[in-house]
Amino acid sequence: MDMNILAIESSCDETSAAIVQDGRHVLCNLISSQIDIHRVFGGVVPEIASRKHLEVINHLLEAALAEAKLTFDDIHLVAVTRGPGLLGALLVGISAAKALSFMLDIPIVGVNHMVGHVSANYLAHPDLKPPFLSLVVSGGHTYFCVVEDYAHVKILGETVDDAAGESFDKVARVLGLGYPGGPAIQRAAEAGDPEAFDFPRAMMGKDDGLNVSFSGLKTAVINTVHTLEQKGEGVPTSDIAASFQAAVIDTLVTKAKRLMDQYPGLSRFALSGGVAANAALQNALKALCEKRGLAFYVPPAILCTDNAAMIGCAGYYQYMTRGTSELDFAAEPDLALGAPDPGDQDIPTEVLVDLLNE
Ligand code: KG4
Ligand code: ZN
Repeated sequence: MDMNILAIESSCDETSAAIVQDGRHVLCNLISSQIDIHRVFGGVVPEIASRKHLEVINHLLEAALAEAKLTFDDIHLVAVTRGPGLLGALLVGISAAKALSFMLDIPIVGVNHMVGHVSANYLAHPDLKPPFLSLVVSGGHTYFCVVEDYAHVKILGETVDDAAGESFDKVARVLGLGYPGGPAIQRAAEAGDPEAFDFPRAMMGKDDGLNVSFSGLKTAVINTVHTLEQKGEGVPTSDIAASFQAAVIDTLVTKAKRLMDQYPGLSRFALSGGVAANAALQNALKALCEKRGLAFYVPPAILCTDNAAMIGCAGYYQYMTRGTSELDFAAEPDLALGAPDPGDQDIPTEVLVDLLNE
């Protein structure tokens, strides 16, 4: 029998409900974005985000069932983002999911949002199986990792300050390009010269390993803009956007090379997270993979940014390897990728490993 998973995502400014069958088959993936509401404030206002999630969540769940031509009785598992994210926003999705699990008497899994981003590639690429190398770049996180199997992600590097997406958003703000910054910078950069400004690439030393830092780059861009303004010179927005984007991409590509050097036996590289929607970043990493003989994977843009289908996919594998979460699990705003999932402690690693690799 097919397993129908109803998935809910509400960690930031997108409310999403999806129905995923047997982990990889998306029956529907509805996303209600709050971007237009937060745009006037130049970023996400947490209190407003929670209220908007609350307004739409029930309607979205009903719409998802209608689109998939299913009823609540056809659902076998509820999957919901338990963190990381905004506490109030997470609580809306978690409360709805717990109510459904209780009412329908079906299991629930509290899913790590970052594992969801990794899993987006499973939805887009039916042939993709662990192990593989991965770069996860979102608004709040930047991770270089090895996806060892469906239950284990090993973190090799992360940002020591700003996340990649965060730096796009902050630089866009100073350039007056609005929110969210990533797509705006990408558009502006298309008309600009990536070599016009020599912005810094941080933490390139051997000892810096696979960690990255984007805060110095952001400051350098802000200082450049302020200096130009003080001198009364025009700010060449496109050139600055292109030069900034090139610095981020150079940094990520350099570290991706190091990751590949550390794991010469792995022949797949998967990019995911909101920043993975960036065409220039995709092209640079694709070219690197081609040069090194690795297969390159990236989801379509709609599965790069926040969505519930990726949570449904991650929830399926979590349920299959660790079983259900207890109904009293908490929202975890600071949950890291690689943190244990509910049930991890109960199953010996040797039983878990490769359980689903077949
Ligand atoms: O994964 P995501 O939707 O939410 C988080 O989990 O944070 O990522 C959102 C981030 C934002 O910082 C946004 O500016 C960035 O992804 N982003 C992009 C692009 N599209 C979205 N960054 C660069 N280029 C893009 N095309
Ligand atoms: Zn996300």
